[in-house]
Amino acid sequence: MCGIVGYIGDRNAIPILLEGLKRLEYRGYDSAGIAFYENGGIVVKKTVGKLSNLESKINGHEYRSTIGIGHTRWATHGRPTETNAHPHCDCSGRVVVVHNGIIENHALLRDALTSEGHVFSSQTDTEVVSHLIEKYLVEGKDLRDAVLRALGEIKGTFALAVISNLSPDRMVVARRSSPLVIGCGRGEYFVASDVTPLLRYTRDVIFLDDNEVAVLDKKGLEVFDVESGCRKQKSTYHVTWDADLAEKNGYPHFMLKEIHEQPQAIRNTWSGITLVNGKDGLEWRDLNLSRDEILNLSRIYLVACGTSWHASLIGKFMIESLARIPVEVDLASEFRYRSPLIDKRTLTIGITQSGETADTLGAMRKAKAEGSKVLTICNVVESSATREADGVIYTHAGPEIGVASTKAFTSQLVALYMFALFLGRVRGLVSDILFCKFISELKSIPESIERVIERESEIENLANLYWERKNFLFLGRGVTYPVALEGALKLKEISYIHAEGYAGGEMKHGPIALIDEDMVVVALVPRNSIYEKMLGNVEEVKAREGTVIALTTLGDRYLRSKVDHVFYVPKSNDLLTPILYAVPLQLLAYYIARNRGCDIDQPRNLAKSVTVE
Ligand code: M6R
Repeated sequence: MCGIVGYIGDRNAIPILLEGLKRLEYRGYDSAGIAFYENGGIVVKKTVGKLSNLESKINGHEYRSTIGIGHTRWATHGRPTETNAHPHCDCSGRVVVVHNGIIENHALLRDALTSEGHVFSSQTDTEVVSHLIEKYLVEGKDLRDAVLRALGEIKGTFALAVISNLSPDRMVVARRSSPLVIGCGRGEYFVASDVTPLLRYTRDVIFLDDNEVAVLDKKGLEVFDVESGCRKQKSTYHVTWDADLAEKNGYPHFMLKEIHEQPQAIRNTWSGITLVNGKDGLEWRDLNLSRDEILNLSRIYLVACGTSWHASLIGKFMIESLARIPVEVDLASEFRYRSPLIDKRTLTIGITQSGETADTLGAMRKAKAEGSKVLTICNVVESSATREADGVIYTHAGPEIGVASTKAFTSQLVALYMFALFLGRVRGLVSDILFCKFISELKSIPESIERVIERESEIENLANLYWERKNFLFLGRGVTYPVALEGALKLKEISYIHAEGYAGGEMKHGPIALIDEDMVVVALVPRNSIYEKMLGNVEEVKAREGTVIALTTLGDRYLRSKVDHVFYVPKSNDLLTPILYAVPLQLLAYYIARNRGCDIDQPRNLAKSVTVE
């Protein structure tokens, strides 16, 4: 999980590489580096820590080069040190490589290369690639052939960019399981791990597929199959979304901007879904799931990680209640190593913002290999998940840059709700009238979120009161239990406060022992069929002197006298309450983290896309 960039053309590569790395810093930020060709040799500059350190190291030098590569790292093999930062050189300093992924057989290759006289300077898996290329270049091959031969020996995943002063007019890039995009300009090419850094230069891009190598020079680009070495034809994709969407637009952090974008993001989610009346009734264009398949479904698996897993837990409520199909929700990292019961009547849905999460992709591949139809609910167009799935539901939430997922979560919930309604409709369980009612309830949600955000200062005041507390417990029941998990995850990941999410009914089975005057309990108490049950849980906390912040439905008069603070949330259909209750919890985590001076958009030890296991 790292970001890589590259440039070849007539402009000065150095500012282009640094700017590109800035856009990719969300993928990893424990060290960064660039390498470029200058005066007949390769110059490598790298530093530990954020990109700003690298910029300081380079500022003041008049470097100029028309070809270069860069990398921002999230450590997997080897500590985050300057030596382990990319780019990595061969023994002679003539070949440099940046890499995202994991070389699984690196230890074996390192031993073999060492016994042949190669000298390693880092503890990374990547360095074996530079030495392997060196080995084959020495044997008289050109850079493309040397890279192809090196890749033939590598097991594992990679997105790679390679340059050498022995071949100063070309760059070789390759992909297996880690994303790589090439931006096509006039007489110039840009390379990056995702589209965002390319958009300021070009909208015409080529997505490399697995096991492809591309050779780029100013005159053109050729793509080859890694195994056969045969040439491949690739088509160019024109990106239409706006690069400005990825900027902060005056907000202090991407996370706050993305929280505020939720009303529009979820409008975009349903607008992007095309439901039409076909000859057999309602059809979902582009879903690639026939009426017969829907009628025959025996079980649905939802597989995901982190926040997307919380969305899946809510999706289970939606699908089971609207379409009456049994749903199992699995952490993708667990699903891929167990023996789930899969057959042709099983549908598996990988839910992923990035579409690049290694565990989710692994789970989707496993389900497919065992005969399941596989769909994905995904935010990133042309990501690996969307290209591997049989059908795609795009959330259209726009780029999410903050590591803490916010608008992607609520738009996943909208996509799941629409999907559940669609299944229920096709299976004859949701009448025309009910369908219209459910859709109109969905359409009132953006405005309700705006009502919540208008009262953001109430949440900020709560954060000002409790930001120094060491423990938080989030309680929910039914459809808000996963929201409690999500509230706890948000607080943990950006403020580094210990927080747990619990189902209210489980309190008496253990966590109640934690309650004392130091514990802050955030209780989700919508006025629904289990309101009284949650009230009981709130009383249990108050009886033990815990502080209770309750979120309840606008109009409730009872809770105010029972708890320390109440935040009112507009009324909604029960299945949609998670969307509205998630927003104040995102804001609470945000303001607590801000008061604690945390790095909100790039929390320690985390990266936006977890593209390694
Ligand atoms: O891109 P994905 O939705 O597949 O990512 C899954 C998780 O890594 C992600 O949701 C993570 O938990 C977020 N940092 C949570 O805010």
